[in-house]
Amino acid sequence: PNTYTILALETSCDETAAAVVRGGREVIANIVASQMDMHSRYGGIVPEVASRQHILSLTPVVEAALAALPGGWSAVDAVAATHGPGLSGALLTGLNAAKALAWQRGLPFIGVNHLEAHIYASWLDPRSAPPTFPVIALVVSGGHTLLALLRDHGDYTILGQTRDDAVGEAFDKVARILGLGYPGGPAIQHAAEKAQAGGMVLPRAWLRESFDFSFSGLKTAVLHKVQEHQEREARLPAKPAGKHKGRTVPPATPPEPPKVAPAPLDPRWVAQVAYAFQESVVDVLSTKAVEAARQHGASAIILAGGVAANTRLRSELSRRAEVPIFVPPIALCTDNAAMVAAAAFYRFAAGMQSGWELDVTPNLRL
Ligand code: KG4
Ligand code: ZN
Repeated sequence: PNTYTILALETSCDETAAAVVRGGREVIANIVASQMDMHSRYGGIVPEVASRQHILSLTPVVEAALAALPGGWSAVDAVAATHGPGLSGALLTGLNAAKALAWQRGLPFIGVNHLEAHIYASWLDPRSAPPTFPVIALVVSGGHTLLALLRDHGDYTILGQTRDDAVGEAFDKVARILGLGYPGGPAIQHAAEKAQAGGMVLPRAWLRESFDFSFSGLKTAVLHKVQEHQEREARLPAKPAGKHKGRTVPPATPPEPPKVAPAPLDPRWVAQVAYAFQESVVDVLSTKAVEAARQHGASAIILAGGVAANTRLRSELSRRAEVPIFVPPIALCTDNAAMVAAAAFYRFAAGMQSGWELDVTPNLRL
């Protein structure tokens, strides 16, 4: 039972991934075909393009994963796939492929929640001891931002989540405002590394007495900084601060909508904004995660999701936390199928499996 080998597929967003994991912890193969280049032309993910690309990439990634497993199919005990949350068309490709493969081989099939999978990336290192319950999980990705308490395998309580943008989404939108390209997370991190500390401070949405998050105000603050900066650069007088007596004077021309790709900004200034933005996000995330761990007597904090690849978040959370931090290696933070196999393992080991009728659930919750 501790050596069940699971073949898992992941197609919830823009990575077509297949992996083989033994015993829920030992990664035998972890193949990811990224569609990043395809989507970066559009500045974001195009769902139809994603689905079509998954269909093209699924067979090669499954073959590559199985090629790394001695014995191939004969050594596989179960097949798993993400069934939500994610893009419905994209999810369908992987879920149906996994069901077909399991059916054909007479193997059990296990549907996995993508958010749970991100958390289980922290179990994927047989060299270190796994986290012990209760733990706090901070899941930060392109589509999700949540803080959860895990009392046991499969026993989750959501303590807080975002009220507007997900953290990764905020990184991506702010990168676009700053003309840094897609995906925004790594671009902002690299720009911020070139900034000097203490130059600029952006607001933090604390939402006191709550573990919820909000990032849309911060995004708007960046947009205003850019507009002010561009006005200054164009040597236009700053906007009068509404001091017209009695009535407001309408502007001669309506304000222009924010440009998707603004005129090139001074890279040193962009670095300052990227730095201030990242500091604001990291401060709020780490403060709340540390407080949640304290309040619930957690033995560890798990950092999960694509934004967990952020080196500043990793270092700041480690510095502040009073309990051990589990952060998977970067390749296991962003979307992959090894984490799906790990999550599937604990369900399978507990005697659970899914029926063939399992459908995709694009807005599946933890
Ligand atoms: O988990 P993930 O791969 O896909 C989703 O399930 O959403 O997360 C992708 C998100 C993107 O928004 C990307 O910008 C962000 O993770 N990301 C980062 C970094 N690397 C990826 N954000 C901040 N810093 C990074 N180094
Ligand atoms: Zn993800």
